[in-house]
Amino acid sequence: MVLQPVAISSGITWVGVLDPALRVFDIIMETQHGTSYNSYLVRGSNGTALVETVKENFADEFLARLRAVVEPQLIDFVVCNHTEPDHTGALLRVLEAAPKATVLASETGVKFLRDMFSVDFPVRAVRDGEEVDLGGRTLRFIGAPFLHWPDSMFTYVPEDGVLFTCDVFGAHYADERLFDDAVGDFAGAQRYYFEVLFSPFRKHLLTALEKIQNLPLSVIAPSHGPVLRREPRQYVDRYTAWAREEAPSEKKRVVVLYVSSYGSTEKLARAIASGIGEAGVDVELINGRETTPLAVMHRVDAADGLVVGSPTFNGRAVSTIWWLLGLVTPIVNRGKPAAAFGSYGWSGEAAYQIEDFLKGIRFNIVQEPLRVRRKPSEEQLAAAAEFGRRFATSVLRAQAKKV
Ligand code: FEO
Repeated sequence: MVLQPVAISSGITWVGVLDPALRVFDIIMETQHGTSYNSYLVRGSNGTALVETVKENFADEFLARLRAVVEPQLIDFVVCNHTEPDHTGALLRVLEAAPKATVLASETGVKFLRDMFSVDFPVRAVRDGEEVDLGGRTLRFIGAPFLHWPDSMFTYVPEDGVLFTCDVFGAHYADERLFDDAVGDFAGAQRYYFEVLFSPFRKHLLTALEKIQNLPLSVIAPSHGPVLRREPRQYVDRYTAWAREEAPSEKKRVVVLYVSSYGSTEKLARAIASGIGEAGVDVELINGRETTPLAVMHRVDAADGLVVGSPTFNGRAVSTIWWLLGLVTPIVNRGKPAAAFGSYGWSGEAAYQIEDFLKGIRFNIVQEPLRVRRKPSEEQLAAAAEFGRRFATSVLRAQAKKV
């Protein structure tokens, strides 16, 4: 263990761990700079609280760093602002070492903890605005649900102006220099983190940001990436601006996303797109070979309808299409019109599988899949254009539900 605990203020110490080798987080997020699991010890004259723990496989390193600052038996509270396992994986190990500690979480957080851990431990739900006095240092809880789970909350220490936000304001970025004014350029990592994790929750984010708008802030202490002490207000402003970004929507727009092996599914995609355009709806044709899951997520989130095509390979859609759709979420897209298509050699399951998938993430399937055996004929391309025109009509009629 090279890294020592790091003072955040006179009574608050970083005791987290770095995970610089991590390259993919939660299966979906690329982490080219690794990540960190930040945990903080808060000490008052009458009480001690640990804010978040770390991922389970770092428990030994974490406990060693914690012991360098405090005997764990002296910890009175473990605050779980968010219960995802990257922050609660080491919780049971901490509680073994800190037998008198009570876990504090939001009401939903307490339910999640009970689901996650079969063993009993002292746990208490805290309300929005509730305070716990540690003696000269206070924990004030701020409800911030759906960031990015329903359990999430912030914890504020007014005496130091330190705000613990767990994932919010975080970045997957491991750097031993720890503070934003000492590490390298992490702006891209922070924006990427926002886009993947929080862009579906803009409304909830704006509600939470409004709550902290007038808090005196010396430090924002997230649980991934740099600790933010250089004009922390700038991060609130930045997040507010990002959360307010909305795609212009004067005219309806449809994304046609496809992958194609020998050009047949591409021909269908182009014909469908031309039909959609003829019906007065903007269309964005995306070749799956030339895009990324994040770009697809943005384009689909901003669109009013989605048409997806893939050839059938060995009885299934090609894996690229599942990868590309991996970040598309029902939170933003529930109820939007969707349809599937694809050319095939003999069995042709891909279009049905795509349709099932889109249905599963709450799109509204508005027409039967378009399936064409082998290379499409002129008649079949005309039918594909008609498929597009009918789809556009559904889009023009639809009122997609948005969060
Ligand atoms: Fe860092 Fe949502 O956990």
